[in-house]
Amino acid sequence: MFGKIIGTGSYVPENIVTNNDLTKIVETSDSWIEERTGVKQRHLMKNETTATMATEAAKRAVENAGIKPEEIDVIVVSTVSSNLILPNTACFVQEQIGAINAFCFDINTACTGFMMAYNTVQSYINSGLVKTALIIGAEGLSRIVDWSDRGTCILFGDGAGAAIVKASEAAVFETVMKSDGRKGSALTCYNGFATRPRKIFTEEKQEISDIYEKTNGQESSDTFVKMDGQEIFRFAVKEVPKCINELMEKMNITSDDVDMFVLHQANLRICQGIAKRLKISMDKVPTNVSEYGNTSSACIPILLDELFKAGKLKKGDKIIMSGFGAGVTLAATYLEIC
Ligand code: COA
Repeated sequence: MFGKIIGTGSYVPENIVTNNDLTKIVETSDSWIEERTGVKQRHLMKNETTATMATEAAKRAVENAGIKPEEIDVIVVSTVSSNLILPNTACFVQEQIGAINAFCFDINTACTGFMMAYNTVQSYINSGLVKTALIIGAEGLSRIVDWSDRGTCILFGDGAGAAIVKASEAAVFETVMKSDGRKGSALTCYNGFATRPRKIFTEEKQEISDIYEKTNGQESSDTFVKMDGQEIFRFAVKEVPKCINELMEKMNITSDDVDMFVLHQANLRICQGIAKRLKISMDKVPTNVSEYGNTSSACIPILLDELFKAGKLKKGDKIIMSGFGAGVTLAATYLEIC
C-alpha cells in the first residue's frame, strides 16, 4: 500500500521584491531577468524564518486535510536554508502544531528535496511503518544568497509548501531517483561553521589556541550560494527528460498518458527546454516561477497547493513531478490523483 495526498498548504512572505527593486542593488534590468529566467518578482522574508514558514504551510495542510495533528506519524522537512540546525526544523514544526506522536527529521537534497521527502514517506507507508505523513519543503534562500552577485540573486525566493500523505489502497506510486556528486561544484554553499575561528587543544604547546578551520580550501565568501549557471542549465535540460523518460518506460506509459508535468520551478527556460525534449506542450507544464522565483524545495509543494486549490487537479489525473538541483540530484515521481 502507498500514500495519497489528502491535503496541501503553502506560505509565502507578503514582502514582494520586483526585478526593478533589484536594479537598485545590482547592475541588471527587469527585461534581462525576465527574458533569461521568466522571473518577475519574488517574495522575501521580513519577520518570518524558514521554520515559521514551514509551520504555517504545515498548519494549512493539516487544516486542508481535515486531520488532527496527533494523527501524524512522521514529519519530514526538506530544506537547505533553515535558521535551525538544532533542533531540526521538523521538530520545531512538530512542537508548534502539536503533532505529539510524530518522529521528525530534516533532509537536504536541495531542489530535489520535496520529491525525496515524498518518496521517503511513501516507502515508510509501504513498509507499514507509518500511516500518515506530513512533508514540507521550506526555504529562506534570501539568507544564503549573495545579494551582490547578479548571476544568482535574481533567481531565488523564499517560501514553504506542505502536503499530508495518508495510506490508501487506491494510491499508486513509482519513482526514479539519481545523484551525481561529480557535478557537485556547479552549485555550492558552504556551511559558515567551517570558516569560523575556533579553539583547539594543541598537544605540542600544551595550550588552547585559536585556529581557522578550512575544508577543501573554502573561504568565508563561499558561505553564499555560488553557481555555474550554464552547467546547471545543461544538466537540467539534458538529464531531467532522461529521468522522466526512464520513469515512463518503467511504468510502460508515454507522455500522452500523463496529464501534467509538475516540474521544479528553477526557471521558465529550463521548464521550456525540458518540455521541448519530451516533445510535450507547455500546456501540460504549469509554472509559477514568475511570481515566486526559484524557492528550491518549496517550489513543487507551493505549485501543487495552487493547482489543487484552483481545481486543476482532479480525480484520475496522472501527474509526473520532477525535482532537480544541487548535488547534483534529480528525481521523477508518478502521482495519480485519487
Ligand atoms: N543582469 C544583467 N546581466 C547579467 C546578469 C544579470 N542579472 N547576470 C549575468 N549577467 C551577464 C553576465 O555577466 C554576462 O556578461 P558578459 O557577457 O559581459 O560576461 C552575460 O550576462 C551572460 O552571462 P551568462 O552567465 O552566460 O548568462 P546566461 O545566459 O547563462 O544566463 C542564468 C544566466 C543564470 C539565467 C542561466 O545560466 C540559467 O538560467 N542557469 C540555470 C540556473 C538555475 O536554474 N539554477 C537553479 C537550479 S536548481
